[in-house]
Amino acid sequence: MKERILSEFSSRFGGTARCWSSAGRINLIGEHTDYNGGYVLPGAINKAIVAAIRPNHTQTVRLYSLDYDERAEFGLSESDLPERQWARYVFGVCREMLKRGGHVDGFDAVFAGDVPLGAGLSSSAALESVFTFALNELNDNGFDLFELARIGQATEHNYCGVMCGIMDQFASCFGKEGQLIRLNCKTLEYQYFPFDPKGYRLVLLDTCVKHELASSAYNRRRASCEQAAAVIRKRHPEVEFLSDARLEWLEEVRAELSQEDAMRAEYVIGEAQRVLDVCAALERGDYVTVGERMYQTHWGLSKLYEVSCPELDFLVTLADKQGVTGSRVMGGGFGGCTINLVPEERYDAFLLAAHNCFTAAFGHAPKVYPVVISSGAHEL
Ligand code: GLA
Repeated sequence: MKERILSEFSSRFGGTARCWSSAGRINLIGEHTDYNGGYVLPGAINKAIVAAIRPNHTQTVRLYSLDYDERAEFGLSESDLPERQWARYVFGVCREMLKRGGHVDGFDAVFAGDVPLGAGLSSSAALESVFTFALNELNDNGFDLFELARIGQATEHNYCGVMCGIMDQFASCFGKEGQLIRLNCKTLEYQYFPFDPKGYRLVLLDTCVKHELASSAYNRRRASCEQAAAVIRKRHPEVEFLSDARLEWLEEVRAELSQEDAMRAEYVIGEAQRVLDVCAALERGDYVTVGERMYQTHWGLSKLYEVSCPELDFLVTLADKQGVTGSRVMGGGFGGCTINLVPEERYDAFLLAAHNCFTAAFGHAPKVYPVVISSGAHEL
């Protein structure tokens, strides 16, 4: 991919450029917990966005997206917000860096990637992170990795309308080969967990369903959680975030909450515990427990958090019938992929059944992505 990008760079802008790469991510468990101050367990994967970037010593950014075959050009002032959605991610990164006292020289860039879009693998965080990394180095800004992750997150909040948590940008910045990372999203403490489940394979099945209104639905989930936390906090002031609450405390205030807010809170409080259970199980190599928690997460996300869809529920039900150890929707939801922990000996039969049954039910096959846990953002 690097060669293709550099050759495009040379024909558009002349000469050559430095290249950076930043990965998409998986998340084993801990969904919708990041903005609730809970734990997540992501890892970067072997699907990435690569960008060739060279300062042009002007106040203008010139971009070309190979995948969209589209170009964009913008200045670096707040009023220069570009039209194209993909260009807003790059514009946001520049603006957030400048707001934090960083320097950003104008630049020329060509980028492309193989992170599937809208599949729950964080292609947007990969795009943000490749530019935060590169611009940090090219401009000698010296921001640390957490600040780079925050710059990506603030880009989503302020320029893309998604009030996301820190997980995706964190995974893109901190990812390491073969390692999942448990992040406490409240304290930002983190720990690497080697992940090489002997006898199992991790595979994603992409429903190819994309929800048009996913970002507003996502923001509504977040607002519900904040509302529930505020009500619980009145009786239990130690509840800074919803993940700090206990189920008994939710029961005490259930009558004061809308049914919807209570359902969202019930899911989040359960999920906070499930991540801890999974981490303990990983330490003893107990993948049966890991898998059980994954199924519980899925049905919580489907029935209480309501971010699943018939295609995802279908795949998870099928996985269960096929003896798959764990399966669930991954990422924000409303479509995208399931993540599946599959015993080696069931792998082929599961993929065949998924292909045939899903096609019979929905008219197209799910896409299959075997997962390889890889490194995060870096210069190539
Ligand atoms: C999206 C967001 C993340 C996180 C997940 C759900 O990927 O960007 O911050 O909230 O959804 O776990």
